[in-house]
Amino acid sequence: MKVLTVVGARPQFVKASAVSRALNAAGHNEQLVHTGQHYDAELSDVFFKELEIPDPAFELGVGSASHGAQTAAMIDGLEPVVAEVEPDVIVLYGDTNSTLAGAIVGSKVDATVAHVEAGLRSFTDMPEEVNRRLTDHAADLLFAPTAGAVTNLAAEGLEEGVYRSGDVMYDVLLRVVDRSTGWSKILERLEVTPGNYVLATVHRERNTDDPSRLRSIVDALSTSSLPVVFPAHPRTIDRLERNDLLERARRELHLTEPVGYLDFVQLLDAADRVVTDSGGVQKEAFFLDTPCVTLREETEWAETLECGWNELVGTDRRAIERALERERSLEDKPSPYGDGRAAESIVEVLERAR
Ligand code: UD1
Ligand code: UDP
Repeated sequence: MKVLTVVGARPQFVKASAVSRALNAAGHNEQLVHTGQHYDAELSDVFFKELEIPDPAFELGVGSASHGAQTAAMIDGLEPVVAEVEPDVIVLYGDTNSTLAGAIVGSKVDATVAHVEAGLRSFTDMPEEVNRRLTDHAADLLFAPTAGAVTNLAAEGLEEGVYRSGDVMYDVLLRVVDRSTGWSKILERLEVTPGNYVLATVHRERNTDDPSRLRSIVDALSTSSLPVVFPAHPRTIDRLERNDLLERARRELHLTEPVGYLDFVQLLDAADRVVTDSGGVQKEAFFLDTPCVTLREETEWAETLECGWNELVGTDRRAIERALERERSLEDKPSPYGDGRAAESIVEVLERAR
């Protein structure tokens, strides 16, 4: 089976690593296209190295731009690649502009388009929600990580080609968590000890590009009684700077560059709690039994809210402050994300579909 995998942004490298490994183990010919949506080494190269992802066969080098310009450049770059490779299957991940570009190009050629992480919905108008909905409706095979995702697809009339696969990020985490613990020296480097710091990540457009939301997040994090380790996305650094918040954030928080995946897993595993607006981090916190405070009003990962392991606080300063200090009563969790073999089950379905 000839597979073309389209990736471009940090969380997609993580997800693709699991399926790539399973495709390779089953002897399939996979080629990767990197759109170039993320290009800084700490958002891209480090994941290829640490997760042993095959080097991309094609690099589109699209870079940063407005949604329309970026997606258009990806479509323009992908079309000739698909024509050259003539893949049997095109695999897309998640909900970024790279996903949407792959869906648009793939749905117009004679290839099976597979969407991994199908059926997630936040029921908002955020750009990722647009990307997921359009991709699900353009794809032929929909790999839904959870029962809830299957239900969401059915509510939109999507029942054919839907498979509940489990979550590929769970596969990856299970594989690396022990390696991360033995290998990573990030806690020593940042001079924090297990259980005695808060981890924070913020990059969602709605939070970074709204100065009052961004300020409220910085204000609240600055009051934490525990040190706050904050590996900041370049978008966030840029917006902190534009809003005169960067110096203060550097002074009052442990602001760092984004860290590699193995360091991040270690930081997340040993944190007292994590404060985030990331989709993937909410899930990984749940897998690692780290309480999560989510800086959004809604989440597409609703299962993480069960049993108190994740809570939605939005960006109201007091609500974040309360969540930072509150003792949480944490109950045993269900396992809604599969058994850690999602990638293998995806490959089996792809094989049957051709
Ligand atoms: C994108 C995805 C988002 C995902 C996130 C993962 C879309 C619409 N958004 O958001 O769903 O959660 O990736 O991290 O696809 N930049 C750099 N270096 C880089 C990449 C970006 O400095 O290597 C800066 C640029 O100023 C750029 C900004 O970050 O304008 C935003 O990058 P972009 O890829 O457009 O969106 P993300 O916020 O990363
Ligand atoms: N991550 C990382 N280093 C960091 C921050 C995040 O390796 O400094 C990883 C994290 O473990 C998860 C993925 O990046 O696997 C999540 O990416 P992000 O939050 O950018 O995107 P989202 O999941 O919100 O789309």
